[in-house]
This record gives sequence, C-alpha cells and structure tokens, in this order.
Amino acid sequence: LVGGSLLLPIGFQYRSQAGTAGSPQPTPFSVKLPIPPVLNPVRSDTTTDYYEITMKKGRVNILPGLTTEVWGYNGISPGPTIKQRLGRQSVVRFINNSVGVATSVHLHGMASQPQYDGYAEDLTAPGYYKDYVYPNNRAATIWYHDHAIHNTARNVYMGLAGMYIVQDAVELGLPLPKDQYDVPLIIQDKQFTTNGRLVFDDQGEKSQFGDVILVNGAPWPRMEVAARKYRFRVLNGSISRSYKLALSNGSDFTMIGTDAGLMSAPVRVKNFRLGMAERYEFIIDFSKYAIGTRIVLQNLGLPNNDDYDGTEQIMRFDVVAAATDDSSIPSTLRTVESIPESAAVRTREFRYERTNGLWVINGKIWENDRIDANPKVGDVEIWRLYNNAGGWFHPIHLHLVDCQILDRNGKPPFPYERGLKDVFYVGENESVRVIGRYGPNTGKYMSHCHNTVHEDHDMMNQFEVGQGGISPFAVSSKPLPA
Ligand code: C2O
Ligand code: CU
Repeated sequence: LVGGSLLLPIGFQYRSQAGTAGSPQPTPFSVKLPIPPVLNPVRSDTTTDYYEITMKKGRVNILPGLTTEVWGYNGISPGPTIKQRLGRQSVVRFINNSVGVATSVHLHGMASQPQYDGYAEDLTAPGYYKDYVYPNNRAATIWYHDHAIHNTARNVYMGLAGMYIVQDAVELGLPLPKDQYDVPLIIQDKQFTTNGRLVFDDQGEKSQFGDVILVNGAPWPRMEVAARKYRFRVLNGSISRSYKLALSNGSDFTMIGTDAGLMSAPVRVKNFRLGMAERYEFIIDFSKYAIGTRIVLQNLGLPNNDDYDGTEQIMRFDVVAAATDDSSIPSTLRTVESIPESAAVRTREFRYERTNGLWVINGKIWENDRIDANPKVGDVEIWRLYNNAGGWFHPIHLHLVDCQILDRNGKPPFPYERGLKDVFYVGENESVRVIGRYGPNTGKYMSHCHNTVHEDHDMMNQFEVGQGGISPFAVSSKPLPA
C-alpha cells in the first residue's frame, strides 16, 4: 500500500475528565467532514455588507442516535463562516435570542475599534442585539466567539464560535488551491453524558477537556479527497486542549499561514503545535497517493496536556478519486514586514502563573479599571511573556496587535510560527519575546490566556493605546423589537 494507509488501531482514545463518566464513543471516521455554511449578507451597499446572526439554542446530532443541545450562532456549532474582502466593511447584527445568558462577541484577529471588540463587560442581555462594525483591514483566517466576562469558557464550549475569513487581491491572485479545495478545520474536544448532553466542568477553574474530538462539529470525521492539493485553515477552538498535529504516514505539511495571514514563504514541517485559538494554514498534496489511501490526522499530544495518552486521532483523509490540479505553491507568498528588534522603544514583562488558587498576570487578576500598559500610537514594543512554573501552558492572546515572535527561551521560534500572530504558545518554563507595533486604533484592549477557563478566573489584563480612545462601552446593545 502506498503512503502508509495502515490504520491505527482504535483504542488510542482521549480520557474523560476526573469525576466524569466517559462519553458515548462514536466509531471514528464514520461521519463525513461537514463544512460550516457560508453566511450571505442580508444586504450590501457600495462600502458595506450587513449580516445578521442570532445566538440561540439548537438541537443537533453529533453522536449517533443522540440529540445534543448547543448554544450556536444561528443555532449551529461551529457557526456560519463569514467570508469578506479586504477593505469592505462588515456590520454584523448579533442578536441574543434564546441562549439565556449575557453575551459579548469578539472577532478574534480583527483590529476592531474598542466599542466593537467584544470587551468582556460590554454585555448584550437576552432579548437585546448589538451591531458590530468590522473594517476587514487584514487578510487572514480569524474567528468570532463569545467573550462574556467570567463565562467565556462555558459559552464557547456550548457552541458560540465560528470562522471568519478575509481575503485580499494578493492572496486571491496566488495559484493556491481555491473554492472546495480550501477547507476550514475547526478542532474542539467535548464531553457528553450517556444521553448526549454536553458536560461543562472546569475541574475547579483549571481546564475543560473532552474525550470526543470534533472537527467542524463532527466526531473524528473522515474527509473524502481527490488526489490533488488542498489548502486547510485549521483553528483550535478547544477550551483547554492543545494539539501537536502530524500525519499518520509521516508526510510533511507545507505550512503557508499563521494567525494573521500568509507567511512570506512556505515551510515544510513534520508536525506543529496548535494552542487554543491559534490558526495555521497548510497544504497537503494528495496527488502522490494511490486511490484508496487513508491518512489519519493525528495528535501527537503534548506533555502536560493533562490527559495526554499517547498518539490520538483527529480525523482521516480518504483519497477516493483522481483529479487534475492546476494549483501550485509559490515560493513567495506575500511581503510580511519584519520589525527589527532595534525598533522597539521598550520591553514589558508579563508573568503568567497560578497563585493562591488564582490565575494571575504579574500577580494580578482582571480589573476593568486598571491599565497594565499604555503604549503610544505607533510605538514598537517587545513583550516578554513567561511561564516559569511547571504544570501549565498558556496560549497568550493580544487583542488588536499582530506580533512576531523574536525568540522562545532565547532560541529562534519554530519555522512554522515565523509569520504574524496574535496568540503565542507559552509552554511550561518558556519565555517568549514578541514584537509588535501598537495602534493605529487607540483605546483599551484586552490581553489574556486563551485557556478560556484561565481567562475567566481571571488571567486577563488590558493595555491602552494612546490617550482618549473610544470607550469599549461607547455603543450599547438595544432591545429587540417586541
Ligand atoms: Cu479569542 Cu480575547 O479572545
Ligand atoms: Cu492559561
């Protein structure tokens, strides 16, 4: 057999959390990979596309023969994908209908103004809506998700997450795989009761792990592919689980993009680490495999992923058909500005740790009236993010600013993480220095651990760019018409 099509034995499963019975275990690869629907605007004018998304409870079939209630954007999870063009504006009306809890929507990766950035305390109550304005000023694979203060982990876990893709002329002009060969993969882990209800249990404000892996909402799916190149946009939408992705036949991924868009050039790697909220884009060329080949996307696991149990499965690619392929992977993808270390006007240090049962940054928890950094508009800063305690890793997210990793423990970043990013994996005993330019927006923006259980309790702070920016509370939600 060509290409290592031997299957792993079933049984490399994910463990259930302490105190929870195991979820009903669907047979891996029995369900086809679903693709979230692309949302059409309700109307458009010369500058703007207007969308409407209703947050509501939905009843969906995830496990065979069982119904699961999710809190979904438009009642589905993941929510619909929004696809936009660089420079067109989006106005998205997020309607809080029947989820029964207050919400705040953050478009993660967008340089939104503070009043549209999903500030954790800018809540929309049930029966209210808020119109969010997005400038679409970066071409990247980003995502929208709930950000309600102290309840982000639960709300996202229950389903409030979806993908948002901005494309520009540079990207569309490249000969990369397009349309049905450009595929989102949203990876999440969930825990279910025997009758299919989602179990949210943060294990004493530490983590939420599940023993069923969903891709685009389906358990261990399989994707039937043609023998040609595909582009994948992978998002880790899990609450606490990170992954180290690899292919079961040992083949390479050709990495082309990071959180904030295409890298300057492709790089080939055998595996890569994917922390919560990180996005990577890669190409797999299935043309070298015979029809009938099956390749499993695996999780090699990470030490300290809590329930790490050896190689685990995510999904499977089944090569089912021949195909012609006019796509190619150019050796140069786009120009990515590289900020030299010498451009930085200052360095700040942020230490992420657990103290007295709290998740803290430099010893402090979230307070909405405290500002921990106040760069001027246009300042280039280096932030040293570090985690000098064993036991936990923290994927650290900065709102507004895309940064480059200068080094990790004094060594160069991994080849695949050399593009622009907004989430930085800070492993145990790791110190990561990131450089970025603050602005052009002014105002307050959050920064936090994207283990959203840690974020909720209360590993989050904020920086303010410049002075006199718009308040995050400047635009409030409005009641739905009766
Ligand atoms: Cu993806 Cu502040 O969040
Ligand atoms: Cu954390």
